[in-house]
Amino acid sequence: MITIDINFIIQEIIGSNGISIKEIESFQDKVSEIHKRFNKSEVGFLELLDQDIESLKKTLNPIKNLYENIVVFGIGGSALGTKAVYQACGKYFKKNLYVIDNIDPDFFSEFLNNLDIEKSIFIVISKSGSTAETISQFLIIVDILKKRFKENFKDRLIIITDPVKGGLRKYAETQNILSFSIPPNVGGRYSVLSPVGLVPLYLADIDIEDLIKGANYIYTKCQNDNIFENPAYLNGIIQYIAYNRGKKITVLMPYSSKLQLFTEWFIQLWAESLGKSEKIGPTPIKAIGTTDQHSQLQLFMDGPNDKIITFIEIENYKNYVKIPESNISEYEYLSNKSLNQLIKSELNSVRVSLAKKGRLNYSIKIDKIDEFHLGSLIFLFQLATAFTGFLFNINPFNQPGVEEEKNFTYGMMGRKGYEKKYEEYLDFISKINRKYIKTF
Ligand code: PA5
Repeated sequence: MITIDINFIIQEIIGSNGISIKEIESFQDKVSEIHKRFNKSEVGFLELLDQDIESLKKTLNPIKNLYENIVVFGIGGSALGTKAVYQACGKYFKKNLYVIDNIDPDFFSEFLNNLDIEKSIFIVISKSGSTAETISQFLIIVDILKKRFKENFKDRLIIITDPVKGGLRKYAETQNILSFSIPPNVGGRYSVLSPVGLVPLYLADIDIEDLIKGANYIYTKCQNDNIFENPAYLNGIIQYIAYNRGKKITVLMPYSSKLQLFTEWFIQLWAESLGKSEKIGPTPIKAIGTTDQHSQLQLFMDGPNDKIITFIEIENYKNYVKIPESNISEYEYLSNKSLNQLIKSELNSVRVSLAKKGRLNYSIKIDKIDEFHLGSLIFLFQLATAFTGFLFNINPFNQPGVEEEKNFTYGMMGRKGYEKKYEEYLDFISKINRKYIKTF
């Protein structure tokens, strides 16, 4: 179950900085209109709810336990969700799942040099099949595998890409390499519950059925068009109103180290989906409780009142850690209490301190961290993001702003067809003046 507590955004509770129930209700007609758009043709990722998980598992079962290391090469939406779920639910003692989502030459070579390639399988994930970072990693690993395993290199490789388009699809087919398809209407950052995440996570012993069950569960709770009866719409409307009231920054702050990478997944989802014009683009920030109480909290509390904070609260941590009795008088108050009690008290204290200062915050509480709840959270945030995009009247599924960079890089790296882009790049940098470059 997921519980959303919005007390500390409500005007009658926190005072004039709060949002009135009336204001939320005033959006009901607009929300009911948007509700009609939640069908598979407009919100492509809904199709992931009824995937054939059994056949995916069947295909992977023969190789499931052959490898100790599962290595993913991918970036952005082809990486962040997998990292998030594995950090939250991974069973580290049996398998290692590495998601290599950068091309830092130092990190990349040190990683490969220290990896037992014999015990590893490599999964190359790119929806477009053209992302320069992932394709470079693919070319490097294929070369290494071919040199080491000759024709058998194919056994060590899985490709996940578009069902028909792109070089990776062509390669998988001509070379007869095990491959999976990303549904064309599911955007990268909405794809963790597609083969993008399911394949590596299943190989890493994650219960992918439960992930999908969790997504389905929350989706059944999002069928009502009443704002207060729909967790995705409630989230979205709060964020939307807050943004329009000058809360241009949205902080996601789970009280769990296991959800740290979940915040990174969320940042991409929110930023790339909603940052679409000079006027529209809430800035997502990550924080972790209690760690960031000793880092960013000062800013959240006394800095500009331009943020809304979403806490993720864990009702039951898997472990109970008792604090031993102490006869040091100063520490006595902690005797026989638990870390569980302490972390909850800290969260409640932070929430109340913020609310007392009129700082908007609300909490999403999950029973525990497991695949079911992760699936629910992921789907909830995906639905809320799409909904918020519709509220802003923008397209939450594209990312035109990142194309320019990609095209300049193609031009610089000599890709055919991008010569003009390279000229454009050179033309712009011709303005650069050496006097503004200081070497010390
Ligand atoms: O959300 C998105 O669409 C992007 O972040 C992509 O996931 C990212 O650019 C990687 O793209 P691809 O999977 O095509 O390599």
